[in-house]
Amino acid sequence: MSEFEVRPITLEAAGPLRTALLRDEDETRDERSAGALHLGGFRNGRLVGFASIAPQRAPGDPGPGAWRLRAIAVDHGHRGYGLGGLMLRRCLGHATAQGARIVWSRIPASAYGFFEHHGFERSGDPFEGPGRLPHYLVVADAEARSRE
Ligand SMILES: CC(C)(COP(=O)(O)OP(=O)(O)OC[C@H]1O[C@@H](n2cnc3c(N)ncnc32)[C@H](O)[C@@H]1OP(=O)(O)O)[C@@H](O)C(=O)NCCC(=O)NCCS
Repeated sequence: MSEFEVRPITLEAAGPLRTALLRDEDETRDERSAGALHLGGFRNGRLVGFASIAPQRAPGDPGPGAWRLRAIAVDHGHRGYGLGGLMLRRCLGHATAQGARIVWSRIPASAYGFFEHHGFERSGDPFEGPGRLPHYLVVADAEARSRE
């Protein structure tokens, strides 16, 4: 077993860690839609991260093929080892394989560096999101990402 592993899990399995790490109180209906992927990030067999992606129309973009990265987080003490990047790339690959044109997300401004690193760009003005923290809408060209 390698130290870090990423594999599909149920939304429920991510629940406790997700509640602890994310302030996002939005309902999860879209995450249960057909095609959605939920990933667990494991370190030495222990769940320390998660990511979810599902088809969902993007704000201000009525076109087809939009997927939303709904949540991604790695527990404190396990960040900076590449697990977040592994999960994000798996999510992008999954969406692209199903014909995604773009992938979008609403993220705290503090995570922007991570998303920029993976080819996402800001769209529109910052807004106040969960926890009253500044958030950005970020968008990536899914096809371009999959060619990297
Ligand atoms: C964002 C997050 C998931 C990244 O996970 P991670 O496992 O630490 O990320 P990685 O180790 O794969 O980092 C990949 C690259 O992004 C960079 N990076 C990671 N987080 C960053 C940040 N907040 N700002 C700038 N760069 C960042 C790393 O330096 C690394 O760059 P490198 O490959 O050149 O060294 C993690 O910091 C986290 O859980 N944050 C809190 C939750 C959150 O804000 N989620 C996002 C929206 S739901």
